[in-house]
Amino acid sequence: MSTPPSLPRTETKEDADYIKICEEYNYLIETIPKGNGWRVKHLYNYNGFWLNPIYIKANLLLHAYFKSHPTDIFLASFMKSGTTWLKALMISTINRHRYNFCDHHLHHHGPQTTFSFLESELHSYPITDFTNMSAPRLFATHFPRTLLPSSVTSCKFIYICRDPKDVLISKWFFMNKIRDKDLPPLSFAEAFELFCKGISDFGPFWEHVLSYRRASLDAPDKILFLKYEEVKEQPEVVVRKLAAFMGEPFTMEEDEERVAENIVNLCNFENLSNLEVNKKGVTKFGKLVVDNREFFRKGKIGDWKNYLTEEMKERIDGIIHEKLKGSGLTFGESA
Ligand code: A3P
Repeated sequence: MSTPPSLPRTETKEDADYIKICEEYNYLIETIPKGNGWRVKHLYNYNGFWLNPIYIKANLLLHAYFKSHPTDIFLASFMKSGTTWLKALMISTINRHRYNFCDHHLHHHGPQTTFSFLESELHSYPITDFTNMSAPRLFATHFPRTLLPSSVTSCKFIYICRDPKDVLISKWFFMNKIRDKDLPPLSFAEAFELFCKGISDFGPFWEHVLSYRRASLDAPDKILFLKYEEVKEQPEVVVRKLAAFMGEPFTMEEDEERVAENIVNLCNFENLSNLEVNKKGVTKFGKLVVDNREFFRKGKIGDWKNYLTEEMKERIDGIIHEKLKGSGLTFGESA
């Protein structure tokens, strides 16, 4: 498999389809509901989900141009649920025959660069050409399942979710770091209100989780559904699940060589966050440049306890309980 370098873009002049998509996008932005944004001024409600406008355009482009392949593997997540960690775990599991643990690819490249992030690859013309990536192609996305083209049902997905209270805290810190400089900082009180109303990038949180939950119940062999908390508690068990799900379970020889344990150690928070590339490097997402260190804050379960009042906790837990009722999914102490 390949780790994506800068992907080539199809060099033709803007085609009629692309121009039509731009027109549709402009029309949508004028007409669909908008709410306050976390990073940018406004989020827009597109087919039930709150998106940064650039990702609405990316979604239109995805449907028009992206051709999935049955061997593709997607990592899907709601922002701040452990995407960076899962990227590292997946890339080191799938590439375990290629790199050694003393001088590993991840020692020199931030986990963000190891996957093609669909939303930021598909934002402008010429359209990114993914056809030359070797199989299995690895894609990351924050789009909910219902916003993806139906052709992806033949692909494998790994979905990671996390206690929404920790997601909220993590997201509030992160978004303020990358928030547009001409906007005032987003207060925690406002972030909390927006989150509870479902207005946050790729939200509502609960609809995002449910979109993958339903798909995983329909096709458990195609979607591996994980929680950040279970990865924390039993990382080696999860690495084994990842290996088997991606088609290459660990062999007895690998078990003797403690390969799964090496992967867990390579990708643990302390190790990754202290690497030079993650302390000083940056990652580009389209035009947005993010310091890699912003992807590593505390890496803990339950940091929400330092920020939420009892009343706030009750309110979020109540919303989540109500929205996820009947799905078999729970978060927090009741999980
Ligand atoms: P906190 O802000 O709570 O610390 P994402 O990668 O989806 O953006 O999620 C970021 C969250 O995952 C941050 O949570 C970050 O610290 C945490 N994280 C990043 N790498 C991790 C790792 N190797 N182990 C555990 N948590 C990690």
